[in-house]
Amino acid sequence: MNTVDTVVHLVYLACATCFVLGLHLMNAPATARRGNQLSAAGMATAVAATVVVLARQHRITAVAVVVLLVGVLGGAIAGLVTARTVKMTAMPQLVSLFNAVGGGAAALVALGDAVERSDVPAALPLRTTTTIVLDLFIGGLTFSGSLVASGKLAGKVPGRPVVVAGGRGLVVLLGLSAAAVAALFLTGHGGIAALSGVTIAALAVGVLATLPIGGADMPVVISLLNACTGTAVAMAGFVLGSTVLIIAGALVGAAGAILTKLMADAMNRSITAIVAGGYGTGDEQTGGPATAAHGTVRETTVDDAAVQLAYAGKVVIVPGYGLAAAQAQHEVVALAQALSERGVEVSYGIHPVAGRMPGHMNVLLAEANAPYTQLKDLDEINPEFARTDVVLVVGANDVTNPAARRPGNPVSGMPILDVDKAKSIIVVKRSLGHGYAGIDNELYTDPKTAMLFADAKVGLQALITGLHAYA
Ligand code: TAP
Repeated sequence: MNTVDTVVHLVYLACATCFVLGLHLMNAPATARRGNQLSAAGMATAVAATVVVLARQHRITAVAVVVLLVGVLGGAIAGLVTARTVKMTAMPQLVSLFNAVGGGAAALVALGDAVERSDVPAALPLRTTTTIVLDLFIGGLTFSGSLVASGKLAGKVPGRPVVVAGGRGLVVLLGLSAAAVAALFLTGHGGIAALSGVTIAALAVGVLATLPIGGADMPVVISLLNACTGTAVAMAGFVLGSTVLIIAGALVGAAGAILTKLMADAMNRSITAIVAGGYGTGDEQTGGPATAAHGTVRETTVDDAAVQLAYAGKVVIVPGYGLAAAQAQHEVVALAQALSERGVEVSYGIHPVAGRMPGHMNVLLAEANAPYTQLKDLDEINPEFARTDVVLVVGANDVTNPAARRPGNPVSGMPILDVDKAKSIIVVKRSLGHGYAGIDNELYTDPKTAMLFADAKVGLQALITGLHAYA
């Protein structure tokens, strides 16, 4: 190994260290931005070092330079524009799209490498052919599965479970066929045709396995596909013999797997059952217009709600997707501050899947400088509801639905915020409209609940004004 190679390896090691430290910094909202920057700097350096290696090996032709430049510039511009213009509420589908790109790229790396060496297939060692096959299969299914998941979240594919007749059997059959064709390739037969077979089977498995999964479980699926992307990238690292790619992929794979487990636990689901598409197919009617068929809905006014809040001893605010959609994080924090100044004990009850992405509410509230000490997770806040005077639910629906305690509906078994145990509840939302799971919320017909029908931002601004009248 000459001096340049040694330096490049040391640079790769430094990049891998940046990834690990970056991931560690992402543990807390206060340091997460720095973690992102550090990881991005590590990745940029790794790309630059790789260009140096390729140039030294004289593997960069004029055409390759053009292709690389177009790829880097096109990707960078597309990424920058999308990241700067995406709405916070559209973030999950974007993450899913990024997963698709990552998985697809990893699969293409394997395919490209196999095509490049297709004239000498017998000479390929088993460890290379094995990783090529695994990379193609995992990358292919991540690509198509993530596209379906992204379509479901964006409303372009039905969010409800889409059950294809015989779909599960077909997935098993496709998996077995892929394994058989892969075995052919591993034993030096079939060449690129066999790899194409594996790719087609993987793409079909991704679609068929994601379609039957219900919307409420989509967060877990996206996280699982993220773990698959990481694994595919690590496999691509083995194919290319790139240590830094192996480390980066392994980190994404491990982090995604841990997040998947945490989220599945938060939803009280087993990962196997989610992947088998067992949820969201309950016997209760989903979709359709929301009704108050099971009781009477009591409506309140801004003035009444403001009085109730002003004279409460303890208030818990429960934010949900509607708060994010209305971009009302600054208003909710201003209201909380006004209440605190009046001596009211205020905290926020944060459900792990409130909103549309993991940590969505924490990110929004951190952006509006809500004190971290007031943010309480599900386990911490649930015992407090019984001694809470008023719960202010802002644009949250499914995460408060008592129907989750009963079997047979799309949210069955999901731990909820026990809002209905409080002394009184005020819900700020625009209508009796459904949440993501598409079912009525029994909380709205609870005699203790009063509905304040308004856009979250407008409603909260009115409550702040109303509160000041009682200063
Ligand atoms: P949801 O159950 O989706 O309910 C959100 C409510 O916000 C809707 O009922 C809607 O009612 C209201 N809303 C929408 N725009 C509003 C606005 N401008 N002002 C006021 N209200 C508005 O939200 P949630 O309780 O946060 O639950 C999250 C759901 O999403 C769960 O089912 C979860 O599984 C799923 N999910 C979560 C994630 C992650 S990782 N967090 C990812 C994908 C899906 P109106 O139309 O009547 O106003």
